[in-house]
Amino acid sequence: MKKVTILDLQKMKDTGEKITMLTAYDYPFARLLDECGVDILLIGDSVGNVMMGYDNTLPVTVDDIIYHTRAVVKARKRSLVVADMPFMSYQVSIKEAKRNAGRLIQEGEAEAVKLEGGESMEAVIKAISEIDIPVMGHIGLTPQSIHRMGGYKVQGKDESQRQKLIADALAVQRAGAFSIVLEAIPLELAREITQTLHIPTIGIGAGINCDGQVLVIHDVLGLSGEFRPKFVKQYVQLEKPVKQAVNDFIREVREGKFPTRNHSF
Ligand code: KIV
Repeated sequence: MKKVTILDLQKMKDTGEKITMLTAYDYPFARLLDECGVDILLIGDSVGNVMMGYDNTLPVTVDDIIYHTRAVVKARKRSLVVADMPFMSYQVSIKEAKRNAGRLIQEGEAEAVKLEGGESMEAVIKAISEIDIPVMGHIGLTPQSIHRMGGYKVQGKDESQRQKLIADALAVQRAGAFSIVLEAIPLELAREITQTLHIPTIGIGAGINCDGQVLVIHDVLGLSGEFRPKFVKQYVQLEKPVKQAVNDFIREVREGKFPTRNHSF
């Protein structure tokens, strides 16, 4: 089994092979996803929503991401591990951004980091890339900017936003990022960006024309409750069977049916 590197991802773009990325936050899911052959495991700051029950990603800390990254790395054999840089870990100064990116690599054992922002983050992405930490960019709907954007809204719908997002994508590439996430933008704009850039684009709510696709694993598995944005495809609904199993356990214990002799010494 050959380990995925950032060079493989570039080759995949160059040969037209689609890239797959899913979020992972813990050992058991990371093991399953890696065994299935997903190319990239992302320890997203969506950990805040998905695992910690926060309303948004803003309270997530570098220590939170390190904790979850370590669990994922333990299980991973093949996939590339990318750790998200949380809010305020890279916005204050380039020095702090380099230090925090370094912590995700050194303490979390990630192989790359992801951060949100385009032109405004060009210098930060360049500085981190120059110390040999591969950076994945992230533009379009950037959840850390929720208060500026006034909610989770599709970006790049009018001409000035469209031009801005193309400029952002070019800035991320110029700064040395090895790939870029395009979130919640019209599919034709994602196509244009994907054709313009030489680095791979990975879409979420950005249509079919990106070089790869990413989703949050709990959305894929139907474990996100009522939360179901248009761009999510739920491949299975696990809430029902999980509840069924737990209810069966509770009932059998209460009725004295578990454990049986077979489960006893
Ligand atoms: O935090 C996250 O999970 C992400 C992906 C949705 C791209 O940034």
